[in-house]
Amino acid sequence: MGAAALIGWPAWAQINEQRNSIEVPGEDGMIVRSLRFLDLETPVDYFDSWLTPVSHFFVRNHMHEPVELNAGDWRLTVGGEVDKTETFSLRELAQLPVHSVVNTLECAGNGRGLYRPQVPGIQWQKGAVSTARFSGPRLADVLHRAGVKSNGKHVMFRGLDEVPGKVPPFIRSIPIEKALDSDTIIATHMNGEPLTKHHGFPARSLVPGWIGAASVKWLTEIKVLEAEFVGNFMSPGYRFPNQPVKPGDSVKPEDTHVLTGLSVKSVISGPLEGSGLKSGRVTVHGAAWAGEADIVKVEISTDGGSTWNAAALRREQSRFAWRLWNYAWTAKRGDYVIQSRATDSQGRVQPSDAGWNPSGYLYNAIDEVKIHVG
Ligand code: MTE
Repeated sequence: MGAAALIGWPAWAQINEQRNSIEVPGEDGMIVRSLRFLDLETPVDYFDSWLTPVSHFFVRNHMHEPVELNAGDWRLTVGGEVDKTETFSLRELAQLPVHSVVNTLECAGNGRGLYRPQVPGIQWQKGAVSTARFSGPRLADVLHRAGVKSNGKHVMFRGLDEVPGKVPPFIRSIPIEKALDSDTIIATHMNGEPLTKHHGFPARSLVPGWIGAASVKWLTEIKVLEAEFVGNFMSPGYRFPNQPVKPGDSVKPEDTHVLTGLSVKSVISGPLEGSGLKSGRVTVHGAAWAGEADIVKVEISTDGGSTWNAAALRREQSRFAWRLWNYAWTAKRGDYVIQSRATDSQGRVQPSDAGWNPSGYLYNAIDEVKIHVG
């Protein structure tokens, strides 16, 4: 570790030469992708526990976190197409039955930095993804309290972010079917502890299996709408082309759809890129996830994709959570590219090329690391 001599970074930022990344003291080795609005990436070597400790859970903020949030003063209003607008304090929310969901949260932009040609935006590599046990009341219970009218088809969430200048506030909506799903919750806790500020204290929506942006932090308002919410973070944000596009193609908004569930994907968390190993037994390991689908298989290739061998899936599993996996490999001397490829219960297979798109969303190409065995 040395003091950063990088232009534009504060003096207290540090370079981790081993990981070739910039870190903030106190953030426990997390990779800093932005300091203006805090964006922290989880180093892949932290993918070694099924539940990610909160201090290792990636952070994605589009704007400033709320400066002051007092749990006693905080209120959540539920209005729009409902019989009666309701307001909940944190204490009132806590009186509803608690439901827990282990969810792998992945940012739609995870892997954007791996697309070629490059796409503007936060240059996430592999670690804008983490897994935690989220707990809180079901969104359905809160909605039923207000009484959803028959014309209520979408549910909008508003966050309490500090909005800089003319930037539109962070507001998104999800269809009523997903809102009423028994696993969609208003999370107040993460891994058994109250949410931290970075992750949305005191409450966030938690929409399991869907892109991270659906899970709105610092939740202050829920509104039932007749139609999808119209706003920057629904369009042009978080949309994907209906047809494959070539770099440079312009895509009309009507030829895109809003992103919902995550893709099938695996990532190798060890050995790390560029490592030098001794010949003999090597354990290749990592994580694989598929949003609302289950992982059925992870395969490893050490010969450039000519042959694939099944990795062992580790025991811990839950509907929306990643599976950790490992593969015992007898390594001989040489230079290798190790690859991992996941298959899910919907028959989706991790592709060799992710579908390039102008916003760099849903990168899920077969993962690879280059290593040397000496
Ligand atoms: N909610 C608010 N209010 N503001 C935000 O910027 N970012 C979203 C989502 N919820 C965001 C938000 C995005 S893009 C992601 S990927 C997840 O939060 C990240 O959640 P985390 O920071 O707890 O990992």
